Amino acid sequence: MKRILTGIQPTGTLHLGNYFGAMKPAIALQHEGEAFYFIADYHALTTVQDPQKLRDYNRGVALDFLACGLDPARACFFLQSDVPQVTELAWILSTVTPMGLLERAHSYKDKVAHGVPASHGLFAYPVLMAADILLYDSDVVPVGKDQKQHLEMTRDIAGKFNEIYGDTFKMPEPRIQESTAVVPGLDGQKMSKSYSNTIEIFAEEKAMKKKVMGLVTDSTPVESPKDPTDSTILALYRLVAPPENVATMEDEYRTGGVGYGDFKKRLFAALWEYFAPMRARREEILSEKGYVDDVLAHGARQARSAAGHVMHRVREAIGMRAGI
Ligand code: ADP
Ligand code: TRP
Repeated sequence: MKRILTGIQPTGTLHLGNYFGAMKPAIALQHEGEAFYFIADYHALTTVQDPQKLRDYNRGVALDFLACGLDPARACFFLQSDVPQVTELAWILSTVTPMGLLERAHSYKDKVAHGVPASHGLFAYPVLMAADILLYDSDVVPVGKDQKQHLEMTRDIAGKFNEIYGDTFKMPEPRIQESTAVVPGLDGQKMSKSYSNTIEIFAEEKAMKKKVMGLVTDSTPVESPKDPTDSTILALYRLVAPPENVATMEDEYRTGGVGYGDFKKRLFAALWEYFAPMRARREEILSEKGYVDDVLAHGARQARSAAGHVMHRVREAIGMRAGI
C-alpha cells in the first residue's frame, strides 16, 4: 500500500481556496493508500510568532480537517512538532544540501518580497519540508502547484544523501494538483489570506453572507446581459451548486434581467448548504470534549513509530549510534 503524505501550515483560518485547493483533494486521497497528514507548525514559526495564535490555529486546522471528512481511522493525523525527530533529520539533510539549491528557491524570494522576515528558518524551509517527506518513507506527496519546486528539492536532497551514504531514502513521487483551478477571492484575484479577500469555510452565517454580498462586480445594470466566463460569483457557484442550477445562472447571465445582488444571494445559499453537513460534524466534534486532542495524540504515536524506523536507518548510515 502506498503511503500518501501531505502537510498544511496552520497560519490562519481555512478559506474556500484552502478547502478546494488542498483539503478536499487530500481528504479524497485517504481512500487510496495509507495517509499521513500533518499540521506543519514548525514551518508556521517562520511567520506566526505568537504562542496563543499558534495554539489556536493548530486547534482550528485540526478541527476543520476532521469536520471536513478526514477519517482518523484511515489517516494518521498529527502535529509536526509532536514528532521532533523531524528537526534532527532536517539538520542531517542540511549538511548535504547545496547552498545553490536553496538560493534558487522561489518561495523564499516571494515571501521576503511580501514582507516575511528573512530568517535562517525561512531560508531552510525546503530542508525541513524534505525531512517531513523522507522521515516517513512517503511514496506520494499531493500538493498544489506552488509546492512543486519544494518537491523537486526534496528529491535532489534525497538523491544527494543516497549518493554519499548509500541507498537510505525512498524517492517520493510528487502528485501536483494541476487540475485544481485557482479559487478566486472577493476581489477576483487568487483567494489568499495575504490579500484579505477570503471567505472562511466555517464563518458564521451573518459574516459569510456579508462577505458574499460584498463580492466585487462590474456595474452592468440589472436588465443587461452579463459575461458568465469571467465572473467570480459563477466561479464560486460552480464549486458548490448542483450543475443544473449552475446552467440556469449561466443562462440568466447571458439573457440579462437578473442583477448581481440576486446571484450573490443564491451563491450564499449554495455555499451555506454545501458546508452544512461539515458544520454539523464540527459541532458534534466540539461537543465531544478531548476528541481532537485524542486524535492528534494517537496520530503522533503512530507517526513517531514510523519515524523511528527511518531515523534508525539514517543514523546508522551516517555513522552515529542507532536505536537510542
Ligand atoms: P494563503 O494563500 O491563504 O496563505 P496557503 O498558502 O497557506 O494559503 O495555502 C495552503 C494550501 O491551500 C496550498 O497548498 C494551496 O495550494 C491551497 N490554496 C490556497 N489558496 C488557494 C486558492 N485560492 N485556490 C486554490 N488553492 C489554494
Ligand atoms: N509547504 C507546504 C505549504 O505551504 C506545507 C508542507 C510542509 C508540506 N511540509 C510538507 C506539504 C510536506 C507536503 C509535504 O503548503
